[in-house]
Amino acid sequence: MKSSVRKFMFSDLQKIDGYIDPPDALVFLSLIEKQRQEKLFGGLVEIGVYYGRSYFLLRKISAPDDNVLAIDLFDIEADGAQYQRFLDNGRSLGIPVDEELVIAGDSTLLDPQAIIDKVGQVRFFSIDGGHLLRHIVADSRLAKSVLADHGIIAFDDTFNPAWPEVTIGVADFLRRNSDTFTAFCMTKYKTYVCRREFHEVYRAAVSGALHLKPFEHAELDFLGSKVIRLHNPLNRRVAYEVMQRLGMGALSEWAYRPG
Ligand SMILES: C[S@@+](CC[C@H](N)C(=O)[O-])C[C@H]1O[C@@H](n2cnc3c(N)ncnc32)[C@H](O)[C@@H]1O
Repeated sequence: MKSSVRKFMFSDLQKIDGYIDPPDALVFLSLIEKQRQEKLFGGLVEIGVYYGRSYFLLRKISAPDDNVLAIDLFDIEADGAQYQRFLDNGRSLGIPVDEELVIAGDSTLLDPQAIIDKVGQVRFFSIDGGHLLRHIVADSRLAKSVLADHGIIAFDDTFNPAWPEVTIGVADFLRRNSDTFTAFCMTKYKTYVCRREFHEVYRAAVSGALHLKPFEHAELDFLGSKVIRLHNPLNRRVAYEVMQRLGMGALSEWAYRPG
C-alpha cells in the first residue's frame, strides 16, 4: 500500500466526522485493489454518506477515472448544512465532490436506472443509509439490480445490537437470494457479499491481503458458505484509540502495520 494512502486513512480521514473502523477501511482497500488487479471494472456507490468519511475513502482508493456515486437525504442539519459540510470536506481533503455524481434524496424511492445512468454497473456498493428493515429491503434490492457480475455489497452495522433490523434485513436478503448471493467476509461492523461465482475470488483476496494480516482470521460457516471473520485484536485496538485520542493520527497507522 502506498504510504500516502495509509496517511490519508489514518490521519486526514479522521478529521471528517463519521464512521469507518480501520479493519473495514483496510477491507475496502484490499477488495478495490483486487478488483483493479483483476480488471473487474465498474462504478462505486454509497448510500448513507453523512459527512463523507467512507465516501472520501472510496474516492481516494479508486482510480481517478472511476465514478463514485454518493446518495444521501442530506437532511440531518437545517438549511442544507450537512451537504455544505460534505462539499467543504472534499475541498479540504483535496478531493472535490463531483456534484453530478451526488443524489440527494431517499434511496428507498430510487429507480435503479438513475444509478446506471450516472455510473453504469456497480462493482462496489456500500449500504449505510437508513437502518430499519424497510431501508435494508429496498437498498439491497436496489444494489442487486445494478450490481456487475463481479460486484460487492458491503452492508454496514450488521449484527450491531443497536440496529437489530439491519441484521434481519441482511439475513433475509442472503436467504432469499441464496442461489445467487453469498457472504464472504465479516468484521465487527460490516458484512461483505458477492455473487456465488466470485465467492472464492474475494474470499481468497481477503485471506491473502497484506493489509489484513494484522487481524485474526477465523473461518466460519454462515448460511451455507465459508466466511472469513476478521477480528481486531485488543492490543492493536487500544494502541490505535490511544494514539487517535492524543491527536497522533499519523502514528496510529503503526497499530495496523502488517508484519
Ligand atoms: C450512519 S450515517 C452514514 C455514515 C457514513 N457512511 C460515514 O462514512 O460516516 C447514515 C446516513 O444515511 C442517511 N440516510 C438515512 N436514511 C436514508 C435514506 N432513506 N436515503 C438516503 N440516505 C439516508 C443519513 O442522512 C446519514 O447521513
